[in-house]
This record gives sequence, C-alpha cells and structure tokens, in this order.
Amino acid sequence: MSREIVLVSREIRPLLDGESPEWPGGAETRWVAPSDALPPSERVVALIPLLSREVTGAEMDRLPRLRVVANYAVGYDNVDVEAARERGVAVTNTPGVLTEATADLTWALILAAARRMREGLELAVGGDWEGWKPDQLLGAGLQEKRLGILGAGRIGSAVARRAPGFGMDVLYWSRSENRELERAVGARREQELGDILAASDVLSVHLPLTDDTGGLLDAGALERMRPGSVLVNTARGGIVETGALAEALRTGALAAAGLDVYPDEPEIPTALRELPNAFVLPHLGSATREARTGMWRIARDNVRSVLAGREPVTPVPESTAPGTAPD
Ligand code: DGY
Repeated sequence: MSREIVLVSREIRPLLDGESPEWPGGAETRWVAPSDALPPSERVVALIPLLSREVTGAEMDRLPRLRVVANYAVGYDNVDVEAARERGVAVTNTPGVLTEATADLTWALILAAARRMREGLELAVGGDWEGWKPDQLLGAGLQEKRLGILGAGRIGSAVARRAPGFGMDVLYWSRSENRELERAVGARREQELGDILAASDVLSVHLPLTDDTGGLLDAGALERMRPGSVLVNTARGGIVETGALAEALRTGALAAAGLDVYPDEPEIPTALRELPNAFVLPHLGSATREARTGMWRIARDNVRSVLAGREPVTPVPESTAPGTAPD
C-alpha cells in the first residue's frame, strides 16, 4: 500500500539543517511551494502550511484523510478552523517560541517610528545631510509616556515587560484581566477601547485577526487616538484600515506608524511605502533563526503527535474574541 504523505511548505526546508523529518507510520514528506495548489490526494494526512496559504474547507475536502493542519505561525487566520472542526481535522499553531523575537521587533518599530529613523536613514544615505542641527528630525521621547497594548497575551505582555526600561507606563486592553502583567510592570487595564486609544502615546497591536478585530482600528478609532501619537502593528494588517491610517499620517493626526504587517501581503500599500512617517518592514516579527527553527519543531511535533494517535501539543484555542492575544 502507498505510504501516507505529510505536505510541508518548501520554504521551511533550509531551516532543517539537513534533518529529514520522520513521521509515525512511516509517512513520507512532500515539499510544496506556497503558491502550488494542493493536489487532491487520499494519501495526505498532515499539512504544515505557511501563513500565506489559505487553508479552506474546499481544500480540506480534496484531502479526505487529512488529520492535522499544523500552521507554521502563531496566528492562524489563514486556516478555516470551523471547517477543520467539522471535518475532524486538528489545527495547531506555534505559540511561545516567537514571543521574544516579536516583542524585540515591536520595540525596534516603536523606536524607529518615534525617532523618525526612516527620514534619518534617507538623509544619511541620500547624501544630502548638511550636518548636525538642533531642530533636525526631532522625534518623540518615550520617558514618562504611556504605552497602550491591545491584546495582552504572550507577545503583548512581552512588549509590556520591556516598557519600564524605557520609562513608560503601561495600559492594556484585553478580554480578561492579566494580573501577572499588572504585578510585573504596574500595567493598568482599560475596559473600553476608546479609553486606551485616547490615553496612549504609543499604541501597539497584539490581537488576532478575527471577524471581530478585522478593521477594528478604522477611521473612527484612529480619530480617537491621542493627537501626535504613534501606532505600531506587528500582529495582522487587517486589524488596521490602511487607507484611514495613511490619511492620519498625512495630516499629522498621528505622528508616525511602525508597521510589520499588511492586509494583502506581500502588497504594502503605496501610500504607506511613500509616507516618510511610516516605518515599514516586510513581516519580520519572528525572523530570528531561533524563533523560526522553534516554530518548525512545534509544527513537526504537532504532526507527530496527531499521527501517533495522541492529542496535538498546541491546538488552537476553541474560540477567539476581541482582546484575546494571537499567541
Ligand atoms: C505568526 O507566527 O503569526 C507571525 O505573524 C509570523 O511572524
């Protein structure tokens, strides 16, 4: 009888350092390009996709023996979790291993946006710098300012934990109280979204993308943000309406934005690419060797566990509501 197949996104392979993955029951590994349609197959029992692959119910129907989708990401908005449940397919993600890497990158963006590093870099490498001036590219200091965290899960909390080092006070908006965070950094929970928007000098987004959070930061919400504040998003692009954000940056309602994620990646909206006060990165939050190899190990172990007839190691939560962190 033909062997079962585990489909793994080809882009992960260079991180394996020559490891040739082994699966319970002797299933074979097939490497697939992210853009390749998945071939209908009775033999496929597991899939390890990148976040750029939409895994729909129709796709699962072409793989009738599929038992697990082990998403190579902590976010899993690319997977139709409901459709998977209806078909008895487990869905897993990669929590924990990318928390610190993403929190570090969030701070890189906070600093880059607040201190106008895009304009500074362009001035430095463009050959037009005429020398030090007292009023050149003045940004915003962070000391004694307020950092607002939307979604106080693992990544949001890790970002908050770094705040005292920069002299910032922490506010958070989350579905549930995070006592540990309150104890660790004296964070204060805001019950209403409008209140944290109005109170934060820097607002950092760490929510999952769900039906409830898609477009949460629309024109109305951005208008409620503190004038001259900074918005940072390392979660999912669909949470912020980019047209409204570009307008707020153009008018100066917001001083700057630091962005790592976009609604239709790899497209970065032209307005954001062109605005000097938008510091844009190409989804690098978890881009450290440690995090990316850790993500592979978790995805691999989830597949092994399910194929061996055990529970998945890190199944995605039953439900995700606003204020729940993606991690
Ligand atoms: C994730 O894991 O969801 C991140 O966005 C990847 O960096």
